[in-house]
Amino acid sequence: MPIPVVVGNWKMNTDLPVATALATDVANGSVGISGVELVLCPPFISLSAVQSAVAGTSVKIGAQNMHSAESGAYTGEIAAPMLQGLCQYVLLGHSERRQLFGETDESVNAKIKVAFESSLIPVLCVGETLEQREAGLALSTVSNQVKAGLSDIDDITGVVLAYEPVWAIGTGQAATPEIAVEVMGGAILDTLKLLYHAGADQVPILYGGSVTSENIASFAGQDCIHGALVGGAALQAGQFLEIARLIAEVKAE
Ligand code: PGA
Repeated sequence: MPIPVVVGNWKMNTDLPVATALATDVANGSVGISGVELVLCPPFISLSAVQSAVAGTSVKIGAQNMHSAESGAYTGEIAAPMLQGLCQYVLLGHSERRQLFGETDESVNAKIKVAFESSLIPVLCVGETLEQREAGLALSTVSNQVKAGLSDIDDITGVVLAYEPVWAIGTGQAATPEIAVEVMGGAILDTLKLLYHAGADQVPILYGGSVTSENIASFAGQDCIHGALVGGAALQAGQFLEIARLIAEVKAE
């Protein structure tokens, strides 16, 4: 089984002092938790401060996005070489990036390749909209996103997948574990197995979408769910740590 992972996506929240305090609290609380990798994804401007705050602990850091070019005339963007040394992970293809900022499967694929070349662990985010689900297209949509996101990549060692149904993000309405298993154990794992055979079994697949300490155990209890991508609940250190603790506990059983 892949190592369990819990990623906190702070999105466009926290200023520098708040990010530093939140990371410090998570770092302090992480000391008593083992068996799950904790990853914090603050806004770019706080990466350095968060790096200092978690120094000496096993807490890892991720960026929320990056550009696929190495440098150049891309006002407002951040390139992979700028992230190297500051973080280990990078979220790519989050549905908010796809929906609000015009990211396509092609641009996500280009970024994934750059992440691999830059020794950053890409967290490829996939998930269907409510319209796609209601039209019976959830499984094919997610499967196509996985295929396109990983297009022309021969070795997926080190990639993390996150299934985040768009209708469950920030709505307080998490998917049911049954829905998550259908998509994660079905569409995602089947697609990975088809493409990468045994390599698929090493890929951590995370559930995201209104994860809380109340509902995480029901997801973590499923064999095909290896952790969580947490948004709102990651803004409270206590909640995030409890989610991490519960994942570790359930996975150790
Ligand atoms: P949420 O966000 O936990 O607030 O639903 C998850 C995400 O967008 O990664």
